[in-house]
Amino acid sequence: MASHTKKCPHCKNLPLFDYYLVDDYFTSEELDLIWTDIDEAIENNWFEGNSKEHNGTAINTKTKKYLAERYLFWPAKYKNIRETNLAEISFKVFQGHTKKYSETCFAALNSLETRQSHFLVSCYLNGGYYKAHRDNGITTALYWLSRDGFEFEGGDLFFPEINEWVRFKHNRMVMFPSKALHAVSPVIMDENAKLQSGRFCITQFME
Ligand SMILES: [Fe+2]
Repeated sequence: MASHTKKCPHCKNLPLFDYYLVDDYFTSEELDLIWTDIDEAIENNWFEGNSKEHNGTAINTKTKKYLAERYLFWPAKYKNIRETNLAEISFKVFQGHTKKYSETCFAALNSLETRQSHFLVSCYLNGGYYKAHRDNGITTALYWLSRDGFEFEGGDLFFPEINEWVRFKHNRMVMFPSKALHAVSPVIMDENAKLQSGRFCITQFME
C-alpha cells in the first residue's frame, strides 16, 4: 500500500489531492469469481463498444478512423446487480480501505458515510484510451485486471493536475477523489486482440 499526497491546484474543495494504491488487491479466489463474471459478459456480448459516443476513443488523426473501441459493460443493465460476483466483491473496498484513505483524503472521508456504489467494467483494446475527465460521485476506485500471457504497453492512469502517472498493473487498485481530473493513456497491443486479452478496469463510483 502506498499513499501519495500532493497539493491540488484546481480543487478548491479538496485541500489535499491524495490517491490510494493497493497492489495484489483481490485474492485468487476473488479473481476467479470476477473472471467468471467477465467471461459471461463476453460470451453474451454484453460489452458494448462506445465509438458512437466518441468518448475518449482513439482516433487516427490522418484517416479520422477509430483505431479501437473502449468497451463497456454495465452489469446492472443485464441482471440483478446483487447477483453478480462483482457486486459482492466490490463491497470489499468498505472493509477498511475507505477508512484508511479517509485519514488523509477529504473525499474518502465523505464516502465513509455511505455504502452506496455502482460500477462498470471497461475493456481497452489496441489504441483504446480515455481522455481527461472528472467522474460523478465522491470517491472513485479502479481495479485493473489483465490475463496472464497477454502483454501490452500503455493503459496507464494520469492525473494532469498533479502531473503524476500510475502505471497499469494487474490486480492493482487505485482510489482517488472523483472530481480529480484523470485520463488513461493509449493501449498498445496486437490490433487483432480480442476482448479476452484486453486491459480490464472495474470502476467503482462511491456516492
Ligand atoms: Fe473516470
